[in-house]
Amino acid sequence: MANYSEEEIRAFGLVKEALPKHVAVIMDGNGRWAKAKKLSRSAGHRAGVDRLRGIIRLSSDLGITSLTLYAFSTENWKRPSDEVGTLMALLIEYFTKEIDELFANNVRIRIIGAYEEFAPTVRNVIERAMKRTENNTGLNLNIALNYGSRAEILRAANLAMRQAIAQGKSEITADMLEQNLYTAGQPEVDLVIRTSGEQRFSNFLLYQISYAEFLFPKEYWPDFSDEAFIDALRVYQSRSRRFGGLEGNA
Ligand code: IPE
Ligand code: IPE
Ligand code: MG
Repeated sequence: MANYSEEEIRAFGLVKEALPKHVAVIMDGNGRWAKAKKLSRSAGHRAGVDRLRGIIRLSSDLGITSLTLYAFSTENWKRPSDEVGTLMALLIEYFTKEIDELFANNVRIRIIGAYEEFAPTVRNVIERAMKRTENNTGLNLNIALNYGSRAEILRAANLAMRQAIAQGKSEITADMLEQNLYTAGQPEVDLVIRTSGEQRFSNFLLYQISYAEFLFPKEYWPDFSDEAFIDALRVYQSRSRRFGGLEGNA
């Protein structure tokens, strides 16, 4: 893993200690990107997938602990079946082509979401990617697939409730709930980026983003360059996070 030195990070206008530990990205705007270029929505999704390599590589090189990417929501099943089919085919292609490089870069892949509901062809490739990288110690790459925050919280509450019953308790604790979220054990989300100018969360990580900073860059996801990502990190570092306390006291 080619981690940047503090000096190299400073050359980007960033401070290593103040980088977010967990960045979450709502990769939005593939369709509008394609429309603006008179291309098919499929071409937009393909261009979107092509952006993954750069953002993942940069996150890994900067030493960010966790990167969570929203790739397919529980609501995206509402799209026409040919578009859903294209997205599934792209997923299979992505994992098949990229797994060696991700592994070589010490990236640990986790799928968050009800991926067990996908067709076996998709599930197999996903499970193989998770298994292959499970002992890696670099960037935690969480890919949200068939992910919805409400479903995640409900699932976690049910799992925690079962544990409580097994232990003869009548209440669950915040710890028990958090331990049953898909992101258990990872740092809280520090920064959420939603591309394409839309300003909503679309059922993404509602529990984990309680104290996150938000950025809504206008670029469509396929145009969200490495430079735009660095810019976003710079803006993040210029924000004052108070966590309910007072300046400098957080
Ligand atoms: C985001 O791009 C990718 C997915 C939701 C899978 P969109 O497909 O939502 O693009 P727009 O919002 O239509 O431009
Ligand atoms: C959110 O984008 C989901 C992903 C980026 C995967 P959508 O494009 O599906 O969200 P809405 O429909 O605009 O809220
Ligand atoms: Mg969209």
